Amino acid sequence: MDRKLRIGIIGTGGIANAHINEYKKFDDVEIVGGADIVPGKAKAFFEKHGIKGAQAFESAEELIKNVEMDGVSVCTYNTTHAEVTIPALEAGINVLCEKPMSFTLQQAVDMVKAQKKSGKILTIGFQPRYDYTRKYVDKIIQSGELGKIYYMQNGGGRRRGIPGGTFVKAEYAGYGCLGDIGCYEIDQMMNAVNYPKPLSVSAVATDYFGKNPKYWKDPENFNVDDFSAAFVRLEGGLTYVFREAWAMHADTLGDNLWLGTEGGIKIVTGFNGTKMESRVMLFKDVCGQQITSQVLPSYPFDAYEMGPHANEIWYWKVRDFCDCIKENRPAPVPGSQILYNQAICDGIYRSAKLGKEVYIDIPPID
Ligand SMILES: NC(=O)c1ccc[n+]([C@@H]2O[C@H](COP(=O)([O-])OP(=O)(O)OC[C@H]3O[C@@H](n4cnc5c(N)ncnc54)[C@H](O)[C@@H]3O)[C@@H](O)[C@H]2O)c1
Repeated sequence: MDRKLRIGIIGTGGIANAHINEYKKFDDVEIVGGADIVPGKAKAFFEKHGIKGAQAFESAEELIKNVEMDGVSVCTYNTTHAEVTIPALEAGINVLCEKPMSFTLQQAVDMVKAQKKSGKILTIGFQPRYDYTRKYVDKIIQSGELGKIYYMQNGGGRRRGIPGGTFVKAEYAGYGCLGDIGCYEIDQMMNAVNYPKPLSVSAVATDYFGKNPKYWKDPENFNVDDFSAAFVRLEGGLTYVFREAWAMHADTLGDNLWLGTEGGIKIVTGFNGTKMESRVMLFKDVCGQQITSQVLPSYPFDAYEMGPHANEIWYWKVRDFCDCIKENRPAPVPGSQILYNQAICDGIYRSAKLGKEVYIDIPPID
């Protein structure tokens, strides 16, 4: 491409700042427009960031109609990801959509349909994909060294970390901690095992912290989950135990663990007396002996870890989107794959509401 990439931003709230801060670093990118439904918000956003010449609108439709763009960052709250992503794709614009992909499974299905029809990129903003610990854990699991992976569970969670803003209101976010940080855990666990199809979910969700004035400043306006746990059956006989918390009386919900027939791997996370820290442990039998070893990163892991931006996960999330457009490469975190992430979130939501196991039925895409 012998000209600059023309980029727009839809939804100019909190996370749009992280997107624009990365785009501004790139000499081959110009920010040409943006939209936010709050009058004047997109204009003020560009002024704050010193972006001259970007056109500001009060609807995504106007932006898409009036400005020629190669790509857009969709930074609206969860419930509106689909309604702005689909028209952008239909207009031939590549999309970097913030996580979670959507609120409902049907919205995610419609987004993937629009992506397939357009032939454009739909990538979902999971920046931890660019973390090198994640990369070497994935590499070990996918190498087959651990045999068939038959069980996995994620840990994580926050002792106190309800984010506030639009995150705690169902009309904007749809889900609470499940959609905010739970979808990252699902992506980490599922990506390591190449995203098998989810079949059924039995889940619970609670709001004991968000609804308690002792732990949250505005319980009256809190109407989402702050904890959820689920038992998920996946294709190929794999079981996944999910848990996530915005607040709890513990430092972590446990370790991230994958169990295989020939070995296991664990990301051990805990409070070391000063801060949370993590390390990767590998379990294998060698010559009949049970070996427990710590996995260390080896450098350079791949081209992305080299150079001045090594392990800057936000830099790579936005840079990779731009490079994929320029080089005509497929989406780095394809919507068609994250559809399964969304199917699990949707299943957890439905199962927790119904109080029983639900089956996951993904409508056909083609
Ligand atoms: N990747 C990350 O690390 C990360 C971190 C925080 C938030 N997020 C995600 O980013 C998204 C936004 O979060 P936020 O904290 O910026 O929320 P926010 O509420 O601060 O900002 C969302 C903005 O979108 C605007 N908006 C909503 N619907 C719109 C529409 N149809 N057209 C145009 N503008 C619209 C709102 O007016 C608001 O200004 C969420 O999906 C969230 O999960 C990702």
